[in-house]
Amino acid sequence: MAQLDAILRSPIRWMDQAKDAEIRSFLDDLQANILKGHGRHFTGNIFISLEGMGEAAVAALLRDLSGYVTSALQQLRTARSSAGPGFDGGPVRCLLLGAGAYRALGQLAAMPGDAAFQAGMRARQAMLADPPANAWGEGAWRPGNPAPDAMLLLANSSFDAVTRDLEAAEGWLDGTGARVLGVERGRAQFRQFRPGGPQEGVEHFGYVDGRSQPLFLAEDLEREEAASGQEPAPTGADRGFDPAFPPSQFILADPNARHPLAAGSYFVFRKLEQRVRAFKQQEAALAEALGLTGADAERAGAMVVGRFEDGTPVVLSDDATAAPPPNNFSYANDPQGMRCPFQSHIRKTNPRGESTPKLPPGAPEERSHIMARRGIPFGDAVRDFEAEEGQEPEGEVGLLFMAYMASIVGQFEFTQQAWANNPRFLRGLAAGEAPTGIDPVIGQGGDQAARTQDWPVGEGKPMVPFAFADFVRMQGGEYFFAPSRSFLREVGL
Ligand code: HEM
Repeated sequence: MAQLDAILRSPIRWMDQAKDAEIRSFLDDLQANILKGHGRHFTGNIFISLEGMGEAAVAALLRDLSGYVTSALQQLRTARSSAGPGFDGGPVRCLLLGAGAYRALGQLAAMPGDAAFQAGMRARQAMLADPPANAWGEGAWRPGNPAPDAMLLLANSSFDAVTRDLEAAEGWLDGTGARVLGVERGRAQFRQFRPGGPQEGVEHFGYVDGRSQPLFLAEDLEREEAASGQEPAPTGADRGFDPAFPPSQFILADPNARHPLAAGSYFVFRKLEQRVRAFKQQEAALAEALGLTGADAERAGAMVVGRFEDGTPVVLSDDATAAPPPNNFSYANDPQGMRCPFQSHIRKTNPRGESTPKLPPGAPEERSHIMARRGIPFGDAVRDFEAEEGQEPEGEVGLLFMAYMASIVGQFEFTQQAWANNPRFLRGLAAGEAPTGIDPVIGQGGDQAARTQDWPVGEGKPMVPFAFADFVRMQGGEYFFAPSRSFLREVGL
């Protein structure tokens, strides 16, 4: 009999392996969106409080919802047949439980073990340098609201389809004793960077997002290899980046397993507002401070993110030329951060073997912090990124950051605290080494010195200190667990 450990050890070839009854039952029991992003362009997140409900009522609610939740197998099958005529893959629905839901279940369920999950995101505020919870946003995050105990994620192919799903789910929840605290809606944004080129998914600052992902389906790895050629990156001695990760880094045994292959995943949700106009103005100011003019001015933003808006990694190129954006690169040829500064968002959050000079290439310790990101922009309007210079939104838009992982402490919290917020990462620990400063996109906390990073102008020239921070504001969030479907179906029976 296949063991869960064995299944999670190496990439899963689902099309062949799903012929095997055990792998099929593993995929049928796992929720959708973990092994692979759902890919729908519209989402709705319903945040739910179970306050005041008894154990039996909570268990009955979860059992009733279990049939509503999409399995990984169903997602993979519909994605495959979505090439068929007039079929768009249909809805994907996930049910995530916070520690409050497990507390409400009392003796009926064991609490998942992650310490951050058990404490909840509000209790981690100081460590994450988040604003206090009473200064978060509206809706579910209104001051005085309890932390959400559960979240329903509804994804579909159109805004109206999600609206219908939301209405049906909210109507159904009404009368169960559960209370809807608020709803967040996600809408993918797209940009076409070249005439005739593809529409690329972007975040609100205008940059291609979701390009670098850990992959744990063999089919996805083959597609990535075909797309990137997985040739050595153009800079010769560059080592490249291996996108293959063991599924065990994102999926673990469900502590309430009803059968031996029942698995789940921790899930982080954060509503991150983006001050787009202020960010764009600061990009222009940085370009000026670095003496970058004309088309070269784009390089300022590229150094903030680590990629040009079209996704071209700045470590590989002086301009936005790569289509499609490569992901098979490392920073081996840029040990001093002269092309891609150490503070740039993607270098901070995935140092690709350069986190300390002592780590060997592709060190597993470093790779172990990578998460499966599943975020989507929020803000109802469809943006026209080329036409609105100077008129960009100032707030009310942003990113619903979502990610799956096997350890919230070791992956999300480590990345945010020890890397993004840490002015002494990637450099600054050794005597005489200048601190790096915080991540200019998501870094939080620290004093003015931590928010002032050194920016390169070229070999042999002194670095230019310039403060780039505070354009992303945390507005609410919680830690969840995506339990197995069999647990949802059978809890309390
Ligand atoms: C509004 C907030 C955020 C924005 C605008 C943003 C933007 C981006 C962009 C444009 C990329 C490059 C495209 C790609 O490689 O996928 C990226 C990559 C990435 N981001 Fe973020 N991000 C945000 C929040 C976060 C948070 C909260 C984390 C984790 C704590 C995070 C972790 C990462 C990681 C791990 C990568 C991939 C790096 C790599 O593998 O090279 N991001 N982000």
